[in-house]
Parts: sequence; C-alpha cells; structure tokens
Amino acid sequence: MSQLSEIEKRRTFAIISHPDAGKTTLTEKLLLFGGAIQTAGAVKNNKIKKTATSDFMEIEKQRGISVATSVMAFKYGGKQINILDTPGHKDFAEDTYRTLTAVDSVILIVDCANGVEAQTERLMEVCRMRNTPVIIFINKMDREGRDSFDLLDELEDMLKIKVRPLSWPIGIGATFKGVYNIFNSTLNLFSANKTKISDDLVSISDVEGKEVDEYVGEDAASELREELELVNGVYDDFDKEAYLRGEVAPVFFGSAINNFGVKELLETFLEISPSPIGRDTDQGFIEPADKNFSGFVFKIHANLDPNHRDRIAFLRIVSGKFERNKFYNHTRLEKKFKFPNPTSFMAQDKSVIDEAFPGDVIGLYDTGNFKIGDSLTEGVAYSFKGIPSFSPEIFMELENKDPMKSKQLEKGIQQLTDEGVAQLFIQQPGNRKIVGTVGQLQFEVIKYRLENEYGAKCQFNPKRYHKACWMTTDNEAQLEQFIKAKAIYIAFDKDGNHVFLAETPFLLQMAQQDYPDITFHFTSDFKVGQN
Ligand code: G4P
Repeated sequence: MSQLSEIEKRRTFAIISHPDAGKTTLTEKLLLFGGAIQTAGAVKNNKIKKTATSDFMEIEKQRGISVATSVMAFKYGGKQINILDTPGHKDFAEDTYRTLTAVDSVILIVDCANGVEAQTERLMEVCRMRNTPVIIFINKMDREGRDSFDLLDELEDMLKIKVRPLSWPIGIGATFKGVYNIFNSTLNLFSANKTKISDDLVSISDVEGKEVDEYVGEDAASELREELELVNGVYDDFDKEAYLRGEVAPVFFGSAINNFGVKELLETFLEISPSPIGRDTDQGFIEPADKNFSGFVFKIHANLDPNHRDRIAFLRIVSGKFERNKFYNHTRLEKKFKFPNPTSFMAQDKSVIDEAFPGDVIGLYDTGNFKIGDSLTEGVAYSFKGIPSFSPEIFMELENKDPMKSKQLEKGIQQLTDEGVAQLFIQQPGNRKIVGTVGQLQFEVIKYRLENEYGAKCQFNPKRYHKACWMTTDNEAQLEQFIKAKAIYIAFDKDGNHVFLAETPFLLQMAQQDYPDITFHFTSDFKVGQN
C-alpha cells in the first residue's frame, strides 16, 4: 500500500472532557465497535478517584494502566484509528496539553446536566491555540439535563467556538426517545442497553412524514419538527472546511453508557475528521507525504518495574515511513539512533512493529536519551515546534534530606522532569532547584518516585510565586538590565532559557510597565505564547 493511502486511512485523535463526563465510557464503547475489546468494563477507569489523591498505590496503578491505555489503536470501516488517552485528573493537565499536540482532532464530551465545566474550558483553550478540529458529544441524555438550545448557547459562549448540531435529541431523561441524525436523515430509537451495540436505525426520507409519529408518538414528533426547523434556521449549514479549520464544532447527542449515538458519532467522525496533518519545524512545514521519516516525542513513561530503569518514549510520526533498525537523527543530541524494538499499541497489547506511518504513535525504549519535545528525522536534522511548557501554578523548592544521596536526587529529578512530571527551574546562587507543577498531586508523585526508584529523600518547601514567565525582546540591553535588577527572581529552565518567577500579578504588571521592550510569555512556546 502506498504511503499516501496509509496516511489517508489514519485518524489520530483524543477524547477529552471534564472528569466524569464520560470519557472512559465513550472510549470503551468505541473500542467495542472497533472489535478491539469484546466486553464492556475491559478498559479500567483511567483516573485517580478524587478520594484517593494521596494513595500512592493508586498513583502507581494509574501509571501502570495509563501505559497500556495511553494509545489505543484499532481498525474500523477500513480506517486505522489511533485514540490517544489523556489523564482525567486535573493535576495531570500538562500531560493532556502535550498529548493534544500529537493529535489531529478531538472529540470533546460534555455532560448534558453539567454543561461546560472548568476542565472543558481549559482543554478547549488548548485546542483553539492550535486550531484543532473539535466534535462535541453531549452525553448522558438518558438522564435529566438542560435544554439543548441552552446547552448549545453555553458551548458557543464559553468555549468560544461556533457549533452546528448534526443530530438532535427527542426528549431527555425519562422522556428520551432517541436521536434524529440531521447529517444523514436517520432516526435512532433509544433503548437502554449497556452491553450490546444497538443498531436500531430507521431511515426516514422525510421528517414531516407520518412514519416519525409512529415511532416516537405525535407530540414528540411535532416537537422534533419544530426544533429541527429552529436548528436549521439558527445555525448555518454544516461547513466541513470550517470544522477542519477549527472554527465550527459539529455536535452530537447520545448516551455513551447505553451505546447510544456512539455509532453515528464514530461514523460521522470517520467521514469528516482530518487524516494526519503536518507540523511546523524550525526549518519550515513538514507534510505527512514527505518521503523522509520524521516525528516528535510528546510523552515519556517510566517503566513500572524498578529493576528496569528504561522508559518508553511516545513518538508521533509526522512524515515518511518509520522503519525498525534504521538510523535516524536525534536533532537535539546531534546523534544517530536506531530502534530494534519499536512497539505499536493495538488496544491493550503492545507489539513490536517493523514500520509505521504518519499519524501513528509508537513506543521507543529509552535509556535516558529523550526529553519531551525531541525530534527524530531522516536526512536533514530539524526540530518540531510547539510542544509548549505552560507556566506552572504551584512552586516548591526541592530540599535534599539525605546528603549521602545527592547524586541520586540530582539524576532522579532530572529524569522525572524530562518525563514531564513537573518543570525544573534552577536558581543561583547555589543551584537551587525550584519545581513547578499545575497540581499538588505531582509533588507527592515526585517524592514517592524519588524514594522508590532512585533511593533519594527530599522535602518540598513552598515558594510563593504566581507565574513563571519566559521572556523575549529586541532590546538585549534592557533584558540584561532586567535580569540584573531582578536577579533573585530569575531562574533557568531545563533548556537554559531565562525565566522570571513573578511573585504576584502586581509585580508582573510592574515589570511589564518598567521594561516595555520585554515581552513576558506564560508558555515556553513563544509562537503561541500570550501575555
Ligand atoms: P470520565 O472518564 O470522563 O471521568 O467518566 P466515566 O466514563 O468514568 O463516567 C463517569 C460516570 O458517568 C460513570 O459513573 C459512568 O458510568 C457514567 N456515565 C457515562 N456515560 C453515561 C451515560 O450516557 N448515562 C449515564 N446515566 N451515565 C453515564 P460512575 O458511577 O462514576 O462509575 P461506574 O460505577 O459506573 O463505573
């Protein structure tokens, strides 16, 4: 099969949602459709229950599970589907943001009773930054929820994206009768069914016809007709190109737990969603059809077995064909590497592969050569852009509690931050280590892993920083002056960039006022950075 047809049949996406909206459930149902699993319940709940944030066994379990389910690949309708899993827990948000750089589109789930929630908004912000195409699935229609028009208004207002319903619910909760698919004029009648794939599709040539009344009753039928008229009046016709540009999100309604509306979602998704798209590099844009292989690492996972210190680097293939045992450039290290045991992820199994194509995610065994954001290329060496670090929200100074183990501590914290568990900033004098995260839970994970995997003991002392800001300027003299004046608030990130650790919003504002030629960024990716 040619490289182009391999690209064309691939779909690489993530399912994202606020915790509890139904991400695990929908993922599982999609795997059921794809035949990748046979029974519901096979995908473990990939989230740390809110009550168990300090239960380390739970954290370990989460890490174990998330390797197995980080990428779920399966075939359906002639397509090769790669679902990239994202952690549900908000403290792992940074991991989710990075994973989103490796997908070509997303399915966003919203709970019909809760509407847009905090994580929904933040995740959508990241999608908007990259113009990622989004399909919205409004879930739990079998439960009492909000009015559908109100929900759509809320989606547009809060997520700042235009929406276009492609299916429409008939009733909700106790009166939920089914969903009318606007895209291909079919009626799907609801029956609560948690285990089987429902296939109760009725083709309706004309929604005005008596047929609809027979299926859902006269009242529901006339309500459906009125609402459809309103939908078609209020919303522009679905524009696939606008969806692909990330400007309009098609919306589906259903109930994941009941396998309801899932098939339509999947089939429409396969019809409209993008096949693998290229990525920008420091040497121009790379198209998937480019004959030379290229890819980037977006996630690194430590081996659970403490006797095997190796890790798995997750590489998204951007262009060309990846081949086992072929030498590729590791751009940052300026070295060539080959990989004897690259793995693919078909559902929960890992297996060694000989080749892989754009859109695929492969696992590379790593003994410490990879950092998140690293690029592998064939031919010319270049680096992919756009795996940003976001400013952490919690900062702590790392204190060594066992002077005999300072080497282990040093190595451990370097490796854990390479994995992206947290960000490390070095402050002078004294090489002080400031660890920054988006959630408290990471500190517990780091402390636990430093002890268990590296034999090092540490303590975290809170630092009252508000934000870490990366800086750019055309006025080098002003930047130098700033760094001198604010020396005690300046640190270096892992790539040796200067970072300003602002203590309060006010102090940041003062700095912006006093040093107008310096731009302060809240992400390390300056192209998408916003002040
Ligand atoms: P998450 O990964 O987004 O965090 O959500 P998850 O799929 O775990 O779903 C959260 C809860 O919502 C689960 O219930 C799940 O069964 C339920 N759920 C998912 N889809 C639907 C739906 O269409 N209708 C209804 N009524 N419920 C749905 P739980 O009680 O938290 O867990 P469990 O005991 O069922 O596993």
